Amino acid sequence: MTRTSQTPATIFLKDYKAPTFRITDVQLTVELGEETTRVTSNLSFSRNTDGGQQVRLHGENLTLVSLEVEGREIPPAEYTHTDKDLTFLAPSDQFTARIVTDIRPQDNTELEGLYKSSGNFCTQCEAEGFRKITYFMDRPDVMATFTTTVIGDGSKYPVMLSNGNLDGHGTLKDGRQFFRWVDPHPKPAYLFALVAGDLACVSDEFVTMSGRRIDLKIYVEKGDEDKCAHAMQSLKNSMKWDEEKYGREYDLDIFMIVAVSDFNMGAMENKGLNVFNSKYVLASPETATDADFDGIESVIAHEYFHNWTGNRITCRDWFQLTLKEGLTVFRDQQFSADMNSAAVKRIEDVQRLRAAQFPEDAGPLAHPIQPQSYVEINNFYTATIYEKGAEVIRMIHTLLGEEKFRKGMDLYFDRHDGQAVTTEEFVAALEDGSGVDLTQFRRWYTQPGTPEITVTDQYDPATRRYSLTVRQDNPKAGPKAPPLHIPLSLGLLDDQGHELMEGAAGNMLNLTEHEQTFTFDDIPARPVPSLFRNFSAPVKLGSNPADERLDFLFKNDSDPFNRWEAGQRLATRCLLDMVEKHDSPERPNAPSGTFMDAFAALLTDEDLDPAFRAAAMALPGENYIGQQMPIVAVDAIHEARSASMRSIGTRFEDDLTRIYNQNSGQDNMGCRRLKNVALSYLTATESEDHILLAARQYREATNMTDRVAALGRLVDTDHPEHDAALADFYARWETDQLVIDKWFTLQAMASRPQAMDDVEGLLKHPAFTLLNPNRVRSLIGAFAAGNPVHFHSISGRGYRFLSDRIMELNKTNPQIAARLVSPLGQWRRYSPERQTLMKEALNRILETENLSPHVFEMTNKSLN
Ligand code: PHE
Ligand code: ZN
Repeated sequence: MTRTSQTPATIFLKDYKAPTFRITDVQLTVELGEETTRVTSNLSFSRNTDGGQQVRLHGENLTLVSLEVEGREIPPAEYTHTDKDLTFLAPSDQFTARIVTDIRPQDNTELEGLYKSSGNFCTQCEAEGFRKITYFMDRPDVMATFTTTVIGDGSKYPVMLSNGNLDGHGTLKDGRQFFRWVDPHPKPAYLFALVAGDLACVSDEFVTMSGRRIDLKIYVEKGDEDKCAHAMQSLKNSMKWDEEKYGREYDLDIFMIVAVSDFNMGAMENKGLNVFNSKYVLASPETATDADFDGIESVIAHEYFHNWTGNRITCRDWFQLTLKEGLTVFRDQQFSADMNSAAVKRIEDVQRLRAAQFPEDAGPLAHPIQPQSYVEINNFYTATIYEKGAEVIRMIHTLLGEEKFRKGMDLYFDRHDGQAVTTEEFVAALEDGSGVDLTQFRRWYTQPGTPEITVTDQYDPATRRYSLTVRQDNPKAGPKAPPLHIPLSLGLLDDQGHELMEGAAGNMLNLTEHEQTFTFDDIPARPVPSLFRNFSAPVKLGSNPADERLDFLFKNDSDPFNRWEAGQRLATRCLLDMVEKHDSPERPNAPSGTFMDAFAALLTDEDLDPAFRAAAMALPGENYIGQQMPIVAVDAIHEARSASMRSIGTRFEDDLTRIYNQNSGQDNMGCRRLKNVALSYLTATESEDHILLAARQYREATNMTDRVAALGRLVDTDHPEHDAALADFYARWETDQLVIDKWFTLQAMASRPQAMDDVEGLLKHPAFTLLNPNRVRSLIGAFAAGNPVHFHSISGRGYRFLSDRIMELNKTNPQIAARLVSPLGQWRRYSPERQTLMKEALNRILETENLSPHVFEMTNKSLN
């Protein structure tokens, strides 16, 4: 550790202790003010374990006004008070306390606790934000019923919301307005929410499976009412789906969603009052892309599904975070797969896992889905906890099968409703409910790293026996790590492309040893194996089949995921080959013949679903190609990929133009996607005609998907249309923050030589601010994660740019600052010159005065 005196403390799972006292009921009064907001909290305590009389409550950034216990005012000599907690003695095993604190939400730039966004009050309490509102036992295993009375100026804040059902409202003698909300379901404080402001409301209703009528309300800023229809429909679909798929019914009379523009994350599942980043609520075809629509559907579902997986059954402590997040991501993935194309959804989920989680699991921030320790819990809302966590649940689902999985889930809900539990209790319930042994499978919870699988096969024509030898290694988990239980979903194809085993879904092999051989009898000729169908486990498949085999699978596999995967592997192989020969005299400027033939087949295969075809036609991204190399050849990758785009565009100009034209003017997401992939190849040729085609699409677009796709092609050129289109876009959407985020992102990701100057210039743009997380992500996050060529520029400018912003953000929003560190933590994967520069950037951050624990933990670990 570099720092000593102020090195923040590490918290360990092994130190978990049940609380000595519990808080069972909270009566909260919040008086909203422009200067100070006063919070009066009446708490009911009762003993939980032996462990003395001391009561310790968390509290940060609070001004304590008074403390009463059992009606008696406690003088300061009888309590201890630090900047983190408040400690006093319990008078008995059951008692009440009344605590008054003052807070200043208008100064809260961290966006945790109670804060203001666009003039409205709102809260964010997960993970440890409630302690910034009042003193409390702010830990998820303390669950209480809440009654919340919000008081304030009714002309400024006509809408006043909190969790539960509305119990009353009116006007006080002094003219202030009040609303009282009662939440009868015991909940941890991290699920508390309060919102107050001058908001518009869109209403609907849902009738549950037992016939109860639920009010559905979406609150947005005035003027945004016409952008809520998709969110509302997604909510109703989610409610219905959770009833049908899992038998889960909603449990209050009202379900509310509030959209706010300043939000650190995507959204928050507060009981009955979800607070959302407006990005995941507001959409109209003119302002939101098809991807935005999909994002809204899945986040609305995710937060709604938390009502059972997260709220009714919550986490015992934050080491169990994947209990609710992995499971809820899995559920939202299932939902989106049911609502749309399951194959395309699976491809996208795996792409996201590979882009964000695989590098995390291979780098200095690797951790198991159930970590053993942390410094700052906010740093553990990671792709590993969420996305790998979801893959682990998916594997359980695969091992148990649909019916037994449902039985296990039913038992889980039955057994643990109203409790705060561990991942172990979850797995035990699934095991007991299904009767399937998950002893070895549990290792997935404690082992970090992505297992690497190697497969070799043999065929003996004399015995008609085929065998597969499969090996698993997990270098990140250490040489002694015991083997994992890995489900390997398998198909065998004959030379005509027909399935050799029962059912197109194939067979499921249980890989449980370091190395294992599986044999198949009665196989008439050497088959082509299709391995890890539908990506049945979050592993890396090391062995690389020959191009012909990939081409065969690409054309014949009945498993759509593996069909896509074979195409991508073929493309990756070609691109890596081009990268390798980049500096040699025989440097190729086009992908190999096998790849070109496979690509040509796609261009004429009209039977394929357009969205799938678009996904199959797209080349793997630069980051993904980089992941396949021990040392990322940043510039060579960019040049190889650009050259490939160009040569494909030139060689298949006619077909691509035909596809472009056929799919234009169709009101269908898949068609738009396909058309825009075609456009990306055509514009890669840099021919004037195609640039003008993009310019025309930009101007004539009737939806944001087409407009952004076209603008994205233009921002990478020096053509006069570049400036014209960017200026037009800004003028057109100046007042729509979410659309302007796209304008920043497109420029942040441009690869043209002057892009770095553009990005630095944008910091001074009047619309840029470090106080809005979406804006930070749209420019700085997009640049660091999505512009490899400029971020990794050998001048070191990109690294300095990022570290400067992290140091600035450290002062106002440490959570957001910490989230930007991880690209620098990948330094081991770059050339020595770049390594030096990246470490220099990390060290500069580490030397900053008043470094937050958030940024300290991420930076310090990244240097290790
Ligand atoms: N629990 C939220 C979700 O995944 C994410 C979140 C975490 C939001 C912390 C805010 C703060 O649905
Ligand atoms: Zn979640």
